[in-house]
Amino acid sequence: MAGELRPENIGETVILNGWVASARDLGGVLFFDVRDRSGKCQCVTQPFGEGEGITPLNSLYEEGRKLRSEFVVAVGGLVRQRSNPNPKMPTGEIELLVDSLEILNESEVPPFEVKEDTTANEDLRLKYRYLDLRRPSLQEKIVKRHKITKSIRDYFDERGFLEIETPILMKATPEGARDFLVPSRLHPGSFYALPQSPQLYKQVLMIAGFDRYFQIARCFRDEDLRADRQPEFTQLDVEMSFPNEALIMDVMEGCLARVWSDIGLTLPPFLQLSYHEAMSRYGSDKPDLRYGLEIQTLTEMVRGKTEFKVFTDVLEKRQGMIGSVVAPGGAAWSRKQLDTLTELAKVYGAGGLIWIKVTPEGNESSAKKFLPEDLLSDIRAVSGAEIGDLILIVSHAKWERACTILGALRSELADRLGLLEGKRFEFAPAWITNFPMFEEDEDTGTFTFKHHPFTAPDPHDWKRRAEGLEHVRARAYDIVVNGYELGSGSIRIHDRRMQEEVFSLLGMSHEQQIEKFSFILEAFQYGAPPHGGMALGIDRIVMLATGTENIRDVIAFPKTTSMQSLMDGAPSIVEARQLKELHIMEAE
Ligand code: AMO
Repeated sequence: MAGELRPENIGETVILNGWVASARDLGGVLFFDVRDRSGKCQCVTQPFGEGEGITPLNSLYEEGRKLRSEFVVAVGGLVRQRSNPNPKMPTGEIELLVDSLEILNESEVPPFEVKEDTTANEDLRLKYRYLDLRRPSLQEKIVKRHKITKSIRDYFDERGFLEIETPILMKATPEGARDFLVPSRLHPGSFYALPQSPQLYKQVLMIAGFDRYFQIARCFRDEDLRADRQPEFTQLDVEMSFPNEALIMDVMEGCLARVWSDIGLTLPPFLQLSYHEAMSRYGSDKPDLRYGLEIQTLTEMVRGKTEFKVFTDVLEKRQGMIGSVVAPGGAAWSRKQLDTLTELAKVYGAGGLIWIKVTPEGNESSAKKFLPEDLLSDIRAVSGAEIGDLILIVSHAKWERACTILGALRSELADRLGLLEGKRFEFAPAWITNFPMFEEDEDTGTFTFKHHPFTAPDPHDWKRRAEGLEHVRARAYDIVVNGYELGSGSIRIHDRRMQEEVFSLLGMSHEQQIEKFSFILEAFQYGAPPHGGMALGIDRIVMLATGTENIRDVIAFPKTTSMQSLMDGAPSIVEARQLKELHIMEAE
């Protein structure tokens, strides 16, 4: 391969098949680089022959003069020492002295140059994805993805797990997102759904006795896209019978440690944080633990010490919270810099943002009028702020909302302070556990599931469910690395009555339960073993392992944020005939 040639190969005759990366004619001598998946190699022709007539060398030179970028060639020749080595290229010490050249295919002038530091915009690169994928950095990510899925398969195979495929055309089951639907031609008015995950199939596999299952599974969700979300993505899906949380966590942590080590990276041991701890210390259930900037809770400390309405309103509410986060050195920030922080807090739902600048002359504050000096000093002491620091205070009637706002500020501060610089390949993994089972809709007050409706409740909390659903925790756990939710899982419900009750608490009528889930409810009645599992986002694993923040970089053929495939033009209009056949359009 072009990128593999080294001084050890000097004297060997080789043929390189690949693409012309660049070509120059230096007055009778042609220099061109041939590129393939492994890298690039410089090729050089003998000087143009002085003799009369068409010598083989002269005709090779004539052929070589036709070469342009992205032509496909087969070049034969002798590997020799380069007179002026290029230390920047892995093959920089050698070159190929060409003695045969075949142009296998020509290329139009590409719409952008295939080179590492391209400035072409992403839409153009997605339209010509095959050209973009010729760039080494994208190739490297796709190769790494292959290595990662191979490690995963080896790891689970060695531990007695079976990879079992589950259907892509399935019955719609809720996982929280919107389904992609496929109309049935044979059953007018009926639809298949594409799987949001293989959740129920893997549970049925446990009931069927395949006690250790995994799958590298394609999943489909019609939801708003973000930098770490695609409408179709890939999960490592795992399920085990007779487990407890510790066993599943051990298996999954081992899997990631193996993957990281197989690609030459190190994953430190996982921390474990409860949902409550993660939210109150870091303001997120997927905190980036590569830096500190921990949140301080001030709620109780402030109580009784001020008449400030922004605080007293919240103190009256049982679920309210007042908290702070400190920006080291932030006392020097301008009014405008503080205003953008206030704007950010408002985007996340804050009524406003209170700041205290700790200066050598004393405390300056946006709420100086309302906060007595000794309270400012107490806040400073609890927050751990030093002279020169900035304290940001958020107060909200809902604890989770207050935490989330502080979490958004925390990550903005980390950005501003450059706390993540040089830390792309530093990893801080954690388990987040003890999630609430139900989530209250802030607007309607109704309950929905936090993980998915098949998650088992904590048995102790379940007994006390009549006292309030907000106190019931789930037997669910997430893996979080560097601010990404890498995976989620849970111990499942395997008892029909408990499952029906959970469905009912989620507002599902008996009829709806039967309509949607009779198969799993029925299956629970025929010896369903206790079971549980987890799914990890493979795309996100590859993102972390390759140091990119763009999920499209790790998928060969991704969709844009408006869910289009610019290369082939999906989604596209289909013929009326097809729509009629599918009973979506009336037949004439
Ligand atoms: P969950 O919905 O949390 O759990 O998904 C598991 C993991 O899949 C990844 N993921 C995504 N990656 C890219 N694009 C998306 N749109 C996307 N959505 C999810 C994330 C996420 O952590 N059935 C359960 C798992 C279980 O309980 O076993 C499930 O799907 O990394």
